[in-house]
Amino acid sequence: MGAEGLLLRPAKESDRRTLWRIHTRAVEALCLRAYAPHEVSTWVRLLKPEGYLRPERPRTVLVAERGRRAVGFGQVDAALGELEALYVVPDEAGHGVGPALLSALESAVWRGSAPLMGLDASLNAEHFYQRHGYASVHASRRPLTVDVQLACVRMQKQRPATAMGRWPAWRRG
Ligand SMILES: CC(C)(COP(=O)(O)OP(=O)(O)OC[C@H]1O[C@@H](n2cnc3c(N)ncnc32)[C@H](O)[C@@H]1OP(=O)(O)O)[C@@H](O)C(=O)NCCC(=O)NCCS
Repeated sequence: MGAEGLLLRPAKESDRRTLWRIHTRAVEALCLRAYAPHEVSTWVRLLKPEGYLRPERPRTVLVAERGRRAVGFGQVDAALGELEALYVVPDEAGHGVGPALLSALESAVWRGSAPLMGLDASLNAEHFYQRHGYASVHASRRPLTVDVQLACVRMQKQRPATAMGRWPAWRRG
């Protein structure tokens, strides 16, 4: 099992529950190595199906399917060049779903004019992003509640020189 046989497609409104389920399962199973149980339970408790695909926050959201099963999803703010989510169901971790989604989301960003892609990586995912060309910039925190703030790492990747996108002619040299 690898990236072969994976289908990536844009998420639709009827996927909200699916995105929530993938997100919840990924955090519970894959982030427990890096965070305390109370941090993981607070994180999961705050996730709600209605929090995804909010009409007032247009985003590029892709779902990865193997067979007809949704096995991962990712979300970017393509204009800003910010990766906001990348989650894979636990039994598919390590089989290329995350890299396939990341590559497609990067392409969406490079088609625009953002000079780099940034993200706040969970501690368990820092090596994954490093392997895909992201540099760790500084330690950061994702506040969940007044008492619980998740330790993260701010990471970024420069727009590749080959990705011209919609950059204005004067910046293309
Ligand atoms: C981080 C994440 C998106 C990576 O996606 P993925 O599809 O697992 O990516 P890969 O296929 O490249 O595998 C990643 C690594 O996991 C390892 N792995 C293998 N089996 C695994 C398993 N059962 N559980 C966890 N990791 C496993 C692989 O060895 C691989 O490392 P390698 O490329 O050096 O061999 C995914 O693991 C995930 O959803 N993690 C939890 C949520 C998270 O932290 N998301 C990022 C938020 S910033």
